[in-house]
Amino acid sequence: MNPSRRPLIAGNWKMNLGGPESIGLASGIARVARELAGLDVVICPPFTALAALAAELDGGPLRLGAQNVHSKTSGAFTGEISADMLVATGCTWVIVGHSERRQFFGDTDSWVAEKAQAAFKAKLAPMVCVGETEAQREAGETLAVLERQLNAVLPVLVAHARAPMAIAYEPVWAIGTGKAAGPADAEEAHAFIRKYIAGTSEELAARVRVLYGGSVTGANARDLLGCANVDGALVGGASIAIEKFEPILRASHALTLS
Ligand code: PGA
Repeated sequence: MNPSRRPLIAGNWKMNLGGPESIGLASGIARVARELAGLDVVICPPFTALAALAAELDGGPLRLGAQNVHSKTSGAFTGEISADMLVATGCTWVIVGHSERRQFFGDTDSWVAEKAQAAFKAKLAPMVCVGETEAQREAGETLAVLERQLNAVLPVLVAHARAPMAIAYEPVWAIGTGKAAGPADAEEAHAFIRKYIAGTSEELAARVRVLYGGSVTGANARDLLGCANVDGALVGGASIAIEKFEPILRASHALTLS
Protein backbone atom coordinates (compact mmCIF):
# COMPACT_ATOMS: atom_id res chain seq x y z
CA MET A 1 0.00 0.00 0.00
CA ASN A 2 1.03 3.55 -0.59
CA PRO A 3 -0.74 6.44 1.16
CA SER A 4 -1.09 8.28 -2.15
CA ARG A 5 -3.48 5.60 -3.45
CA ARG A 6 -6.78 4.82 -1.73
CA PRO A 7 -7.06 1.06 -1.17
CA LEU A 8 -9.80 -0.82 -2.98
CA ILE A 9 -11.26 -4.20 -2.09
CA ALA A 10 -13.54 -5.78 -4.67
CA GLY A 11 -15.60 -8.94 -4.34
CA ASN A 12 -16.12 -11.01 -7.47
CA TRP A 13 -19.13 -13.19 -6.73
CA LYS A 14 -18.77 -15.06 -10.04
CA MET A 15 -21.85 -17.22 -10.84
CA ASN A 16 -23.17 -17.22 -7.27
CA LEU A 17 -25.97 -15.41 -5.43
CA GLY A 18 -27.91 -14.01 -8.37
CA GLY A 19 -31.28 -13.74 -6.66
CA PRO A 20 -32.87 -12.39 -3.47
CA GLU A 21 -30.23 -14.17 -1.36
CA SER A 22 -27.75 -11.55 -2.59
CA ILE A 23 -29.45 -8.83 -0.54
CA GLY A 24 -28.50 -10.16 2.90
CA LEU A 25 -24.83 -10.50 1.99
CA ALA A 26 -24.69 -7.09 0.27
CA SER A 27 -26.30 -5.30 3.18
CA GLY A 28 -23.93 -7.04 5.59
CA ILE A 29 -20.95 -5.87 3.52
CA ALA A 30 -22.45 -2.37 3.27
CA ARG A 31 -22.71 -2.23 7.06
CA VAL A 32 -19.00 -3.03 7.41
CA ALA A 33 -18.01 -0.67 4.55
CA ARG A 34 -19.81 2.22 6.27
CA GLU A 35 -17.54 1.78 9.30
CA LEU A 36 -14.31 1.67 7.31
CA ALA A 37 -13.63 5.18 6.06
CA GLY A 38 -10.65 5.44 3.72
CA LEU A 39 -11.32 2.10 2.03
CA ASP A 40 -13.19 1.69 -1.27
CA VAL A 41 -15.36 -1.42 -1.37
CA VAL A 42 -17.00 -2.81 -4.52
CA ILE A 43 -19.09 -5.95 -5.02
CA CYS A 44 -19.54 -7.58 -8.40
CA PRO A 45 -22.58 -9.88 -8.23
CA PRO A 46 -24.20 -11.62 -11.23
CA PHE A 47 -26.09 -9.36 -13.66
CA THR A 48 -29.42 -10.64 -12.35
CA ALA A 49 -28.81 -9.23 -8.87
CA LEU A 50 -27.62 -5.76 -9.93
CA ALA A 51 -30.93 -3.88 -10.08
CA ALA A 52 -32.16 -5.11 -6.70
CA LEU A 53 -28.81 -4.39 -5.08
CA ALA A 54 -28.61 -0.92 -6.62
CA ALA A 55 -31.91 -0.11 -4.91
CA GLU A 56 -30.74 -1.67 -1.64
CA LEU A 57 -27.37 0.10 -1.55
CA ASP A 58 -28.59 3.46 -2.83
CA GLY A 59 -26.70 6.33 -1.23
CA GLY A 60 -24.30 4.09 0.72
CA PRO A 61 -20.54 3.74 0.30
CA LEU A 62 -20.60 0.21 -1.13
CA ARG A 63 -20.22 0.37 -4.92
CA LEU A 64 -21.59 -2.04 -7.50
CA GLY A 65 -19.68 -3.59 -10.35
CA ALA A 66 -20.46 -6.09 -13.09
CA GLN A 67 -18.30 -9.06 -14.01
CA ASN A 68 -18.22 -8.49 -17.75
CA VAL A 69 -19.40 -6.08 -20.45
CA HIS A 70 -19.75 -6.17 -24.22
CA SER A 71 -17.64 -3.81 -26.27
CA LYS A 72 -20.53 -2.55 -28.45
CA THR A 73 -23.25 -0.18 -27.29
CA SER A 74 -26.25 -2.09 -28.71
CA GLY A 75 -27.30 -4.47 -31.46
CA ALA A 76 -27.67 -8.12 -32.35
CA PHE A 77 -25.44 -9.63 -29.65
CA THR A 78 -27.63 -12.24 -28.01
CA GLY A 79 -26.96 -12.65 -24.31
CA GLU A 80 -24.66 -9.64 -23.99
CA ILE A 81 -24.90 -6.48 -21.87
CA SER A 82 -23.56 -3.04 -22.79
CA ALA A 83 -21.69 -0.56 -20.62
CA ASP A 84 -24.58 1.95 -20.82
CA MET A 85 -26.96 -0.74 -19.57
CA LEU A 86 -24.69 -1.41 -16.61
CA VAL A 87 -24.53 2.29 -15.76
CA ALA A 88 -28.32 2.55 -16.05
CA THR A 89 -28.60 -0.36 -13.60
CA GLY A 90 -26.43 1.36 -11.01
CA CYS A 91 -22.94 0.01 -11.69
CA THR A 92 -19.88 2.19 -11.37
CA TRP A 93 -17.33 -0.59 -11.96
CA VAL A 94 -16.87 -3.52 -14.31
CA ILE A 95 -14.35 -6.36 -14.33
CA VAL A 96 -12.81 -6.87 -17.78
CA GLY A 97 -10.51 -9.64 -18.94
CA HIS A 98 -10.92 -11.91 -15.93
CA SER A 99 -8.87 -15.05 -16.56
CA GLU A 100 -12.04 -17.17 -16.53
CA ARG A 101 -13.36 -15.05 -19.42
CA ARG A 102 -10.03 -15.35 -21.21
CA GLN A 103 -9.89 -19.14 -20.60
CA PHE A 104 -13.49 -20.21 -21.17
CA PHE A 105 -15.19 -17.46 -23.20
CA GLY A 106 -12.61 -16.36 -25.73
CA ASP A 107 -11.76 -12.91 -24.36
CA THR A 108 -8.60 -11.92 -26.22
CA ASP A 109 -6.14 -9.15 -25.34
CA SER A 110 -7.59 -6.90 -28.02
CA TRP A 111 -11.18 -7.56 -27.01
CA VAL A 112 -10.31 -6.79 -23.41
CA ALA A 113 -8.96 -3.43 -24.63
CA GLU A 114 -12.22 -2.78 -26.52
CA LYS A 115 -14.24 -3.62 -23.43
CA ALA A 116 -12.14 -1.25 -21.32
CA GLN A 117 -12.69 1.46 -23.94
CA ALA A 118 -16.46 0.83 -23.90
CA ALA A 119 -16.44 1.08 -20.10
CA PHE A 120 -14.62 4.44 -20.08
CA LYS A 121 -16.95 5.80 -22.76
CA ALA A 122 -19.94 5.01 -20.52
CA LYS A 123 -18.16 6.47 -17.45
CA LEU A 124 -17.79 3.02 -15.93
CA ALA A 125 -14.50 2.24 -14.20
CA PRO A 126 -12.83 -0.86 -15.62
CA MET A 127 -10.96 -3.30 -13.41
CA VAL A 128 -8.61 -4.87 -15.94
CA CYS A 129 -7.35 -8.35 -15.03
CA VAL A 130 -3.97 -9.72 -16.07
CA GLY A 131 -1.99 -12.72 -14.92
CA GLU A 132 0.00 -15.76 -15.97
CA THR A 133 -0.93 -19.45 -15.87
CA GLU A 134 1.05 -21.98 -13.87
CA ALA A 135 2.74 -23.31 -17.04
CA GLN A 136 3.75 -19.78 -18.05
CA ARG A 137 5.20 -19.10 -14.59
CA GLU A 138 7.12 -22.38 -14.64
CA ALA A 139 8.48 -21.52 -18.07
CA GLY A 140 9.75 -18.19 -16.70
CA GLU A 141 7.29 -16.25 -18.88
CA THR A 142 5.40 -14.36 -16.17
CA LEU A 143 6.67 -10.88 -16.96
CA ALA A 144 6.44 -11.43 -20.72
CA VAL A 145 2.79 -12.48 -20.36
CA LEU A 146 2.01 -9.44 -18.22
CA GLU A 147 3.74 -7.23 -20.76
CA ARG A 148 1.72 -8.72 -23.64
CA GLN A 149 -1.60 -8.38 -21.80
CA LEU A 150 -0.84 -4.83 -20.65
CA ASN A 151 0.50 -3.72 -23.99
CA ALA A 152 -2.86 -4.35 -25.66
CA VAL A 153 -4.88 -2.30 -23.18
CA LEU A 154 -2.34 0.37 -22.22
CA PRO A 155 -3.23 2.93 -24.93
CA VAL A 156 -6.85 2.86 -23.71
CA LEU A 157 -5.83 3.26 -20.07
CA VAL A 158 -3.40 6.07 -20.84
CA ALA A 159 -6.04 7.89 -22.90
CA HIS A 160 -8.21 7.93 -19.76
CA ALA A 161 -5.38 8.36 -17.26
CA ARG A 162 -7.46 10.54 -14.92
CA ALA A 163 -10.60 8.39 -14.92
CA PRO A 164 -11.32 5.85 -12.19
CA MET A 165 -9.90 2.43 -13.00
CA ALA A 166 -7.88 -0.41 -11.54
CA ILE A 167 -5.65 -3.21 -12.74
CA ALA A 168 -5.90 -6.60 -11.04
CA TYR A 169 -2.90 -8.90 -11.07
CA GLU A 170 -4.41 -12.35 -10.77
CA PRO A 171 -2.02 -15.26 -11.29
CA VAL A 172 -4.27 -17.95 -12.76
CA TRP A 173 -2.65 -20.67 -10.63
CA ALA A 174 -3.70 -18.80 -7.48
CA ILE A 175 -7.37 -18.37 -8.38
CA GLY A 176 -9.68 -20.61 -6.39
CA THR A 177 -6.80 -22.92 -5.42
CA GLY A 178 -6.06 -21.77 -1.87
CA LYS A 179 -2.48 -21.14 -3.10
CA ALA A 180 -2.12 -17.36 -2.98
CA ALA A 181 1.04 -15.78 -4.35
CA GLY A 182 3.53 -14.96 -1.61
CA PRO A 183 3.99 -11.25 -0.89
CA ALA A 184 7.42 -11.23 -2.62
CA ASP A 185 6.05 -12.72 -5.86
CA ALA A 186 3.02 -10.44 -5.75
CA GLU A 187 5.17 -7.36 -5.18
CA GLU A 188 7.50 -8.33 -8.01
CA ALA A 189 4.59 -8.56 -10.46
CA HIS A 190 2.91 -5.40 -9.16
CA ALA A 191 6.13 -3.39 -9.31
CA PHE A 192 6.69 -4.66 -12.84
CA ILE A 193 3.18 -3.61 -13.89
CA ARG A 194 3.67 -0.13 -12.48
CA LYS A 195 7.10 0.24 -14.07
CA TYR A 196 5.79 -0.96 -17.40
CA ILE A 197 3.00 1.64 -17.30
CA ALA A 198 5.48 4.34 -16.26
CA GLY A 199 7.29 3.71 -19.55
CA THR A 200 4.26 5.27 -21.28
CA SER A 201 2.66 7.41 -18.58
CA GLU A 202 4.27 8.27 -15.27
CA GLU A 203 1.07 9.99 -14.22
CA LEU A 204 -0.99 6.85 -14.68
CA ALA A 205 1.66 4.63 -13.09
CA ALA A 206 1.64 6.78 -9.97
CA ARG A 207 -2.13 6.84 -9.57
CA VAL A 208 -3.48 3.53 -10.89
CA ARG A 209 -4.48 1.05 -8.21
CA VAL A 210 -3.05 -2.39 -8.81
CA LEU A 211 -5.05 -5.03 -6.95
CA TYR A 212 -3.90 -8.54 -6.15
CA GLY A 213 -6.31 -11.43 -6.76
CA GLY A 214 -6.05 -15.16 -6.15
CA SER A 215 -6.96 -16.95 -2.91
CA VAL A 216 -6.99 -13.79 -0.79
CA THR A 217 -8.21 -14.54 2.75
CA GLY A 218 -8.45 -12.78 6.08
CA ALA A 219 -5.21 -14.55 7.01
CA ASN A 220 -3.05 -13.36 4.09
CA ALA A 221 -4.63 -9.98 3.26
CA ARG A 222 -2.43 -8.02 5.63
CA ASP A 223 0.85 -9.38 4.22
CA LEU A 224 -0.27 -8.96 0.61
CA LEU A 225 -1.64 -5.47 1.04
CA GLY A 226 1.40 -4.53 3.07
CA CYS A 227 3.45 -4.62 -0.16
CA ALA A 228 4.34 -1.18 -1.50
CA ASN A 229 2.73 -1.71 -4.92
CA VAL A 230 -0.34 -3.70 -3.84
CA ASP A 231 -3.25 -1.27 -3.54
CA GLY A 232 -6.05 -3.66 -2.73
CA ALA A 233 -7.53 -7.00 -3.62
CA LEU A 234 -9.95 -8.66 -6.01
CA VAL A 235 -11.49 -11.43 -3.93
CA GLY A 236 -13.44 -14.39 -5.30
CA GLY A 237 -14.35 -17.27 -3.00
CA ALA A 238 -13.88 -15.32 0.21
CA SER A 239 -16.18 -12.52 -0.96
CA ILE A 240 -19.42 -14.52 -0.89
CA ALA A 241 -19.58 -15.13 2.86
CA ILE A 242 -19.57 -12.19 5.25
CA GLU A 243 -17.52 -14.08 7.83
CA LYS A 244 -14.75 -14.49 5.24
CA PHE A 245 -14.99 -11.08 3.54
CA GLU A 246 -15.26 -8.93 6.65
CA PRO A 247 -11.80 -9.93 8.01
CA ILE A 248 -10.26 -9.00 4.63
CA LEU A 249 -11.95 -5.60 4.74
CA ARG A 250 -10.90 -5.01 8.34
CA ALA A 251 -7.29 -6.13 7.76
CA SER A 252 -7.03 -3.80 4.76
CA HIS A 253 -8.55 -0.91 6.65
CA ALA A 254 -6.18 -1.48 9.61
CA LEU A 255 -3.23 -0.98 7.24
CA THR A 256 -4.54 2.45 6.24
CA LEU A 257 -4.30 3.48 9.90
CA SER A 258 -0.77 2.23 10.49
P1 PGA B 1 -10.39 -16.43 -5.56
O1 PGA B 1 -10.77 -15.74 -6.95
O2 PGA B 1 -10.29 -15.35 -4.52
O3 PGA B 1 -11.52 -17.38 -5.30
O4 PGA B 1 -9.08 -17.13 -5.77
C1 PGA B 1 -10.25 -14.49 -7.32
C2 PGA B 1 -10.80 -14.07 -8.66
O5 PGA B 1 -11.05 -14.92 -9.52
O6 PGA B 1 -11.03 -12.86 -8.91
